[in-house]
Amino acid sequence: MVSKDSGSSSFARSCAAIILAAGEGTRMKSDMPKVLHEIANLSMIGHVIMMVQEAGVDTLIAVIGPGREDVRAEILKLCPSAKIVVQEQRLGTAHAVLAAKSEIGERFDDLLVLFADTPLLRAETLQSLRKPLSSGAAVVALGFNAENPAGYGRFLTEGDRMIAIREHKDATEAEREVTLCNSGLMALDGKTAIGMIEAIENKNSQREFYLTDVVEIADRRGLASFYRVADEQEVMGVNDRVQLSKAEAVFQGRLRNGAMLAGVTMAAPETVFLSFDTRFGRDVHVEPHVVFGRGVSVGDHVRVKAFSHFEETKIAEQAEIGPFARLRPGTELGVGVKIGNFVEVKKAVIGDGAKINHLSYIGDATIGARSNIGAGTITCNYDGFFKYTTIIGEDAFIGANSSLLAPISIGNGAFVGSGSVVTDDVPANALALARGQQVVKLEWATAFREKARAKKARK
Ligand code: UD1
Ligand code: MG
Repeated sequence: MVSKDSGSSSFARSCAAIILAAGEGTRMKSDMPKVLHEIANLSMIGHVIMMVQEAGVDTLIAVIGPGREDVRAEILKLCPSAKIVVQEQRLGTAHAVLAAKSEIGERFDDLLVLFADTPLLRAETLQSLRKPLSSGAAVVALGFNAENPAGYGRFLTEGDRMIAIREHKDATEAEREVTLCNSGLMALDGKTAIGMIEAIENKNSQREFYLTDVVEIADRRGLASFYRVADEQEVMGVNDRVQLSKAEAVFQGRLRNGAMLAGVTMAAPETVFLSFDTRFGRDVHVEPHVVFGRGVSVGDHVRVKAFSHFEETKIAEQAEIGPFARLRPGTELGVGVKIGNFVEVKKAVIGDGAKINHLSYIGDATIGARSNIGAGTITCNYDGFFKYTTIIGEDAFIGANSSLLAPISIGNGAFVGSGSVVTDDVPANALALARGQQVVKLEWATAFREKARAKKARK
């Protein structure tokens, strides 16, 4: 992990990040732990892990609740080297940090404590919080000016020094007037932190071991605590699904702005939904109401028309997609591919310049360059038990309303007549017709109408 600011002295220091994730999260009303709820298709704890990695910490330690194998798996998926400890009983934030004591010891110069339910924090903020540690600070806490401070811990300050953090429930009327609140994020000097946290007692209204008490302990020991102030939005905690949707909105705004500033045009960015990992080339044009699920990359000069939906898809340069296209996992579009309205593609590689312009389902398939897939073509890939593959060569022409019964292969340059149900392979440059023969009966309609009229007249 490389820090962005490796020239600065503070980053020569070793650093561990401790992510507290043993919360109960009952207000989510969910069968899933709170920190696994997603923002832009990445879990909240995933956001914190990615941010910490971007900030360049050496070691990541996560404190999880007992039996939370799902949270453990998510952490290890994103950071295989993470150390995970279990806090058996939920006795407060200081108690949670001490659950990781054996992993921390005095091994690190700097310690960062983060909450897994505060997913919008930026790496720059984390780095700025660490800075005072290199000039002797024992504690640096991150605060924000709360619009509604009720419930938050309050910063009691003197100049740029901090004297105490008072939890709302333990604060006096005068202390509750303070609007500078604790975000929970804290940087601590690694040599003194554990000793101070061990001295924390639970003599408070909640009988909890508050990490915030470390500030008063530092003060008593003649050590200095400082604070930094962040934007309220950035340190927003997520406790229920209304807050989750607010965090989603903020993060979507960041992703959209990032994409636009990197060369993507969006006429109505507020209607376009991105994932944390969506990648765009230059001069991509995204029309309104498009959803990018996880794992989508879009090449230069691609146009995405309105109401399209993508997941795990690679789109090469100059493709034109939609409106109303659905590209599902495993789709790869070559250069200049055209996918039109009401076309669904799944696990299929579409060669350069190929066209699937209307009303089709293409699944488990390979389509060669420049082939034209007519309206209403369906790859019949599933028999209720197994999936089968369709292979279409280059420069092939599949007539409209054809069903291709997989497994099947259609050679280069072959034609399939419209309305065919193709059950056998078609050699290169052949024509396959697999439909009823047309019968034409001259003047049949005239005779029919005459007979019918005469019958009606008799009644
Ligand atoms: C905490 C802060 C408060 C701050 C607020 C910001 C303390 C004592 N208070 O209060 O000053 O304004 O966050 O949202 O730190 N956790 C554990 N184990 C525990 C207890 C908590 O892992 O035993 C984790 C939770 O999962 C959560 C975080 O620590 O990620 C904060 O815990 P929470 O109970 O939400 O603290 P608050 O009362 O919100
Ligand atoms: Mg909280």
